[in-house]
Amino acid sequence: MRGQLIEVPLGTGPVPDLGHHGDVEATPGLVDLAVNVRRDTMPDWLADPLTASLAELAAYPDPGPARAAVAARHGRPPEEVLLTAGAAEGFVLLARALAGVRRPVVVHPQFTEPEAALRAAGHQVERVLLDPADGFRFDPARVPADADLVMIGNPTNPTSVLHPAADLAALARSGRVLVVDEAFADTTAAPGVPGEPESLAGRRDLPGLVVVRSLTKTWGLAGLRIGYLLGEAALLDRLAAVQPLWAVSTPALAAATACASPTAVAAEREIAARLAADRDHLVARLSALPGVRVAGRPASAFVLLHLAGADRVRETLRERGWAVRRGDTFPGLGPDWLRVAVRDPATTDAFIEVLAEILEA
Ligand SMILES: Cc1ncc(COP(=O)(O)O)c(C=O)c1O
Repeated sequence: MRGQLIEVPLGTGPVPDLGHHGDVEATPGLVDLAVNVRRDTMPDWLADPLTASLAELAAYPDPGPARAAVAARHGRPPEEVLLTAGAAEGFVLLARALAGVRRPVVVHPQFTEPEAALRAAGHQVERVLLDPADGFRFDPARVPADADLVMIGNPTNPTSVLHPAADLAALARSGRVLVVDEAFADTTAAPGVPGEPESLAGRRDLPGLVVVRSLTKTWGLAGLRIGYLLGEAALLDRLAAVQPLWAVSTPALAAATACASPTAVAAEREIAARLAADRDHLVARLSALPGVRVAGRPASAFVLLHLAGADRVRETLRERGWAVRRGDTFPGLGPDWLRVAVRDPATTDAFIEVLAEILEA
């Protein structure tokens, strides 16, 4: 069931629809501010190897070169990389391989697939809900000491909040698997700051850490399905043991290799710098609208906003040709929340004009 409340068999009554995603809101003909995938023209350094890989489709995929390239990018040995069919597959592998976990905790609001994958694998999931009143700030003390699996996003979808790396690192301990979803980490790079400020991708000293990365967002590869996990080799071996054979296709592997190159990383930094300026513009315009409150301190490719009656506003926006992401399907949010993608200033200005008219009516 998509876009509705569903019952889950774990005792707390109706919960938001964990299977709802922005792609079903971005129907043809609407300006898409619901999906956080960049749609710019693909650079040649990515398009060329992708196209060339089509000549290799008769052979089974060989993940070796892509694994080595991703490992080099993050300063880790290849055994500490597991390539996956998008970040989404990573959550399923974790949920299946860690069948013995007793107290899995998911920090919300966040992307719903980690919890959905855990539930589908039969886990009883506990939630830690962050508080909008203090900007969805994360306090590691909120996580029960005996939680043996913790899942958190950084930066978090849908809040766009970037938690300090030290607060996440404080969660790591032996006997616990700590999963940090960094699907949007590249969007947090800031001018004058080296690399991705709060990423744990290069940290090899934290026991039980698994970092989830996606290549589908910035590089517009949602249809190709490519991402990866970084973590201790022994833990990744357990995850690989439940992964289908040849799960990542040859074109997806070609993309992973290309996106790990220094050229790609430099391009990511440039995109993030432009995004930061476009985000500042969106936040300034939204903040000037009566009744609209931008949540937290946005750090990624989208912004979460609070607006009384946002569910009705969303419907009217659709009638006027604009798709934004509903907030009520995220645990911890409700009908007064919307998520809006950061776009170029001209698109933002056109959107704000329509939103202002709707709010005035
Ligand atoms: C926070 C977050 N993590 C992971 C994913 C899944 O990404 P992928 O397309 O790599 O499966 C998404 C997709 O929307 C996301 O928002």
